Amino acid sequence: MPKSIAVAGKGGTGKSTIAAFLVLALKQRREGPILAVDADPDANLGTHLGMRVEQTVGDLREDILKNIHDFPAGMSKAQYMEAGLHEIIEEAEGFDLISMGRGEGSGCYCYLNSLIRKFSEDLLPSYKWLVMDNEAGLEHLSRRTTANIDVLITVVNDNPVSLNTAKTIDIITKDLKNEVRKKYIVTNMVRDERKEMLEERISQAGLDLFCDIPYDPAVPEALFNGGSLADIVESPIMNCIHKIIDVIGGQHGGS
Ligand SMILES: Nc1ncnc2c1ncn2[C@@H]1O[C@H](COP(=O)(O)OP(=O)(O)OP(=O)(O)O)[C@@H](O)[C@H]1O
Ligand SMILES: [Mg+2]
Repeated sequence: MPKSIAVAGKGGTGKSTIAAFLVLALKQRREGPILAVDADPDANLGTHLGMRVEQTVGDLREDILKNIHDFPAGMSKAQYMEAGLHEIIEEAEGFDLISMGRGEGSGCYCYLNSLIRKFSEDLLPSYKWLVMDNEAGLEHLSRRTTANIDVLITVVNDNPVSLNTAKTIDIITKDLKNEVRKKYIVTNMVRDERKEMLEERISQAGLDLFCDIPYDPAVPEALFNGGSLADIVESPIMNCIHKIIDVIGGQHGGS
């Protein structure tokens, strides 16, 4: 099974940015094969990585429900789903990306969801790393879609509410002891004069600060100009990203 990293935290703290840099750092270190999973319905990990996402797992699920009576002759739902999932996986140089899209609506999705789970599990052994960007809410954690991960990175910025979210995530994941092996807090975009105070608050909350990611003006600059984070892999953001990969047991491959 691949080594897996999931990124969680309050909205706007930098989850997608950090997930994208994790993928880019693993690629740079030739740690592949890497699977990037965008588990945020408001999918944007692809954009950060410079990719266009054509179809999500949610779209495929809707498509199957809508066309259930018009499948090609001799094709079962399972076969259609399997073929569809293979098509949805976007292949970039150095990594693959799958976007989960919207969750289920009111239709009967149980069987389709169990198929998705089965085929996703079948896919995993062919990857060495899995990086998952999550939505801002906490629901996915209690729904256990973040199951069996090696490291959960929770992002905190200088909005005090983001620390409250981190505490809640810590509590929810205590019940998932076997499923989340390690948890680290990473601070992002915190102004210098607030760093010490925030560090203190994090430790008072009984949490471990793993590393701090600085604000890098090259990020909004690259995105504004229609580029992606792949254009700025020399960013100082990478220092903390490499530390995360090191602690999970990444090799120092050539870049
Ligand atoms: N270290 C950084 N330096 C500069 N800009 C950053 C940094 N981290 C994040 N940003 C910017 O901050 C904004 C929020 O970041 P991002 O989209 O990664 O957060 P998020 O937690 O994924 O948000 P959401 O909860 O909406 O999914 C984006 O505009 C992003 O480009
Ligand atoms: Mg995001």
